[in-house]
Amino acid sequence: MAKKKNNKIQLVKGMKDILPDEQLYWNLIRTKVDNFAKNYGFSRIDTPVLEFTNLFKRTVGEDTDVVNKEMYSFVSQGGDKLSLRPENTASVVRAYIEHGMLNLPQPVKLFYVGPQFRHDNPQAGRYRQFWQFGFEAIGDDDPVIDAQLIAISYHILKELGLDIEIHVNSVGDTSSRAEYIKVLKKYYQDKKKLICKDCNLRLNKNTLRLLDCKNVKCQELADEAPQMVDYLSEAGKNHFMAVLEYLDALDIKYSLNPKIVRGLDYYTRTAWEIFECSDKDGKLNALGGGGRYDTLVDMLGGRATPAIGFAIGVERVIMKMQEAKVEVDKGKKFDAYIAQLGIEARKKALALFEELRAAGFSVTENMSKKGLKDQLEAADKKNATYTLIMGQKEISDDTVLIRDMESGVQEIVDYKKIKSELRKRLDRNIAKSLKLKK
Ligand code: HAM
Repeated sequence: MAKKKNNKIQLVKGMKDILPDEQLYWNLIRTKVDNFAKNYGFSRIDTPVLEFTNLFKRTVGEDTDVVNKEMYSFVSQGGDKLSLRPENTASVVRAYIEHGMLNLPQPVKLFYVGPQFRHDNPQAGRYRQFWQFGFEAIGDDDPVIDAQLIAISYHILKELGLDIEIHVNSVGDTSSRAEYIKVLKKYYQDKKKLICKDCNLRLNKNTLRLLDCKNVKCQELADEAPQMVDYLSEAGKNHFMAVLEYLDALDIKYSLNPKIVRGLDYYTRTAWEIFECSDKDGKLNALGGGGRYDTLVDMLGGRATPAIGFAIGVERVIMKMQEAKVEVDKGKKFDAYIAQLGIEARKKALALFEELRAAGFSVTENMSKKGLKDQLEAADKKNATYTLIMGQKEISDDTVLIRDMESGVQEIVDYKKIKSELRKRLDRNIAKSLKLKK
């Protein structure tokens, strides 16, 4: 139930409003993601936020924290067991099968940007509704695809101004991982008293997760634990080596981290997480992560199809961009701000605004403001190149005062010529800036 305090209804715990100032970061990230998707040939997919609960139980795994503790699940009016999606990969794979994408040329490359829901403990960078952007390539197991996906995750964040390091591991194919889990269980068998309560619970159901427990004692034991890479099959080892060679060729900064096991059950072979460099020492939360999920299509009733992808948390990226004081463009530069003084001028200014907007100029205004000083300040804040001023005198003379906001120089222009005059001046500015660039 929505909590009331002093009769006010508050934001639901773990949710976040995205206010206009922050939208500058969101726009930047969306544009960057769109551009990368275009270059690398990924098409946008949007899946519903509601899915059958079983989709996540079968893929993410019943014994994972995400499904076991954190899902928003309910029975609908019609008696269906539904959940808000805690992640997007399972839904993308469901859509891939449901829409017959198995029959398209492979790999099918898809990307998404959207909200996910996990009923986790809210803290810095952890919300109950959070946004991810993600890239998925389904239908190819060539290691070059792994390296390219890692490269996309790396370069997007680099280009957003973050200092990034990739932590990479191989979690093996199904049979070598089963073998490794046996070895790991044996390693922990006589250490049950030394590991935390959660790890004791995980030991039989989700053994790999013991490796990335944040508890200091558990971390020490995980450091000494046998490593998956030593238990890879020959083919698994060759695949992983090839991925690393491609990463070297791409000059990607990565470190091998045997403790990257990922929190979701569907991973096979290559797995990676993305950290901001100042955050390197374990207490950190990853900005993103991904890996192969070669058995997922099969698991959901499609034919065996290898696949790989990653997702990055938008709120965490923005938090890091703000900490790193990454400059974001303060917004659009307007061609003109329309200022007015007096009722008659305001009426004409309203019409001029519509006329210029319809003619393709980017114009802005604050028609409810009355003083010129206020309006010029607003024009400055809004980054307008020119302010077009209309007062009593301009109305009776049928003119407009055009003010260059950089130099402060003002000139009177015939009202009928304002469009051509504005165009001429804007073109002249473009020509000047091009010359400067040369
Ligand atoms: P994940 O590691 O669970 O992977 O989530 C990816 C990213 O989502 C995290 O690194 C983090 O930035 C963000 N994130 C997760 N939980 C929260 C939260 N409670 N609040 C804020 N941000 C959060 C997946 O979701 C996989 N589907 C990734 C993938 C795609 N694997 C293959 N393809």
